[in-house]
Amino acid sequence: MITITYYGHSNVLIQNERVKIVIDPFFTNNPLNTVSDIHAIKPDYIIVTHAHSDHIGDTVVIAKHSSALVVSNFEIVNRIRKSGINAHALYISGTMSIPGGWLKFTPAAHGSSFEDGAYGGLAMGVLIHLDGKTIYHAGDTGLTYEFKGLGELYDIDLALLPVGGNYTMDVKDAAVASRWLNARLVVPIHYDTWDLIKLHQEDIEEHLKPVVPVQLIAVGKSFCME
Ligand code: NI
Ligand code: MN
Repeated sequence: MITITYYGHSNVLIQNERVKIVIDPFFTNNPLNTVSDIHAIKPDYIIVTHAHSDHIGDTVVIAKHSSALVVSNFEIVNRIRKSGINAHALYISGTMSIPGGWLKFTPAAHGSSFEDGAYGGLAMGVLIHLDGKTIYHAGDTGLTYEFKGLGELYDIDLALLPVGGNYTMDVKDAAVASRWLNARLVVPIHYDTWDLIKLHQEDIEEHLKPVVPVQLIAVGKSFCME
């Protein structure tokens, strides 16, 4: 059984009995954060989709306090390795084995720079195959025809898609992406963190739900995939 926990923004924990994977662990300075002790999470893997601070978040601190392996692009891995943490560089299409499955980076239509403006490589999404299920976390991305290709290549059980607009797709774009991805279930992410990316619930009803089954997860809550 796979459990998905939503920590707000793009921050998601995916776990089963054997492995814990956190994606974009943005807790500190995240206005939505509900976790008081981030060291209690103890992930095995930390995936960072791109260098923006709302995605790198607490990666270095969590990795230092756990034995987590950070998996990200070459530029991000190169930089954070200097903090003495365990990190593995993968790039778009790059795949690695994890216990019970694999993970693979996918293209995203977005930027990636560190807070000081330094180049942070390419922004990416990630496919995680675990216990026979395929989960897609799109990272930050605009609407791109890449979704169509991913939908043709992979049998996606769950797609975590940004819907807040402004920096990424909005709900209408996410509806098109959902159609192209042909995912069995969509969980919206990257909304309500700030006023600029406020979600209007009626947009979900009007645009997304007619296209795909949708599950909104309250921040700090989990749901299970059987
Ligand atoms: Ni971003
Ligand atoms: Mn972002």
